[in-house]
Amino acid sequence: MALGLQLRRHVLAGLLLCLCAGRWAEAGKVLVVPMEGSHWLSMREAVRELHARGHQAVVVAPEVNMHIKAEDFFIMKTYSIPYTQEKFDSLMKTHVHLLFEKVHWVTMFLQTMASLKKASLLFERSCEGLLYNKDLIRHLNASSFDVVLTDPVHPCGAVLAKYLSIPAVFFLRSVPCDLDVEGTACPNPFSYVPRLLTTNPDRMTFFQRVKNMLYPLSLKYICWVSFTPYERMASELLQREVSLVEILASGSMWLFRGDFVMDYPRPIMPNMVFIGGINCANRKPLSQVCTAFVLSVFPVEHIP
Ligand SMILES: *[C@@H]1O[C@H](CO)[C@@H](O)[C@H](O)[C@H]1NC(C)=O
Repeated sequence: MALGLQLRRHVLAGLLLCLCAGRWAEAGKVLVVPMEGSHWLSMREAVRELHARGHQAVVVAPEVNMHIKAEDFFIMKTYSIPYTQEKFDSLMKTHVHLLFEKVHWVTMFLQTMASLKKASLLFERSCEGLLYNKDLIRHLNASSFDVVLTDPVHPCGAVLAKYLSIPAVFFLRSVPCDLDVEGTACPNPFSYVPRLLTTNPDRMTFFQRVKNMLYPLSLKYICWVSFTPYERMASELLQREVSLVEILASGSMWLFRGDFVMDYPRPIMPNMVFIGGINCANRKPLSQVCTAFVLSVFPVEHIP
């Protein structure tokens, strides 16, 4: 009798579990707005996995791009942009070549700024090609997506999510000028969290803290050039003044392609998840040149 009751309870619990799992296992529709270049390579693995778990992914990308090509695990929607593939490729090439040039740092700075401006303009035009494409927007709006998956380093997807009122999941390494930190509303005290490129440790002397405050100022201009266009587009589309931080702050989940093995400790929020390992999803053995380089930087005894 007691056994029967217990059994019935187990069956009931099992049924309830199935019902819950059933709801969780419902396939979702994911709108993916990727960032160009290597950013897409990690995101592609996430999209592949979403597909394997029965979700449907639609990837929107400009017709002219670097790595985002149609594959069998997602539906691809493209839109036109005012650039030819040749122009796009040459822009990207000069940008990469700059990193390896040995010139005076002033020349380097000016060249980098000029190249960054050109690249920013390209991404801005690309975003306009998406957000002001009436047919595509109507189609996306009618497709009732459950979520937008996007890399906010190119905030176009974040703006699109806000425009279509779809919850956004951000998939990123970081956003320059600590916009990700502002968007997640994490405390970010200058005295404790070392800033990008300062090479400061997480326990700083007074002068390192001063350096920590001054360095970010130099990046502000770059961010202003690169990100104001998205505030302009968002404000136009939403018909009210809206800041980029406000758009980023509406992100539901933040999946950071980082890990505290490499990054400094800092305060985080409960909707931030660290998924640094996904960068190694597509690993291959290092070439000999690479191995020699890695060993010269990290002598063997330091590799855990
Ligand atoms: C999406 O569709 C809804 C319902 O038809 C409409 O109210 C809304 O304005 C549309 N949004 C956009 C961005 O077109």
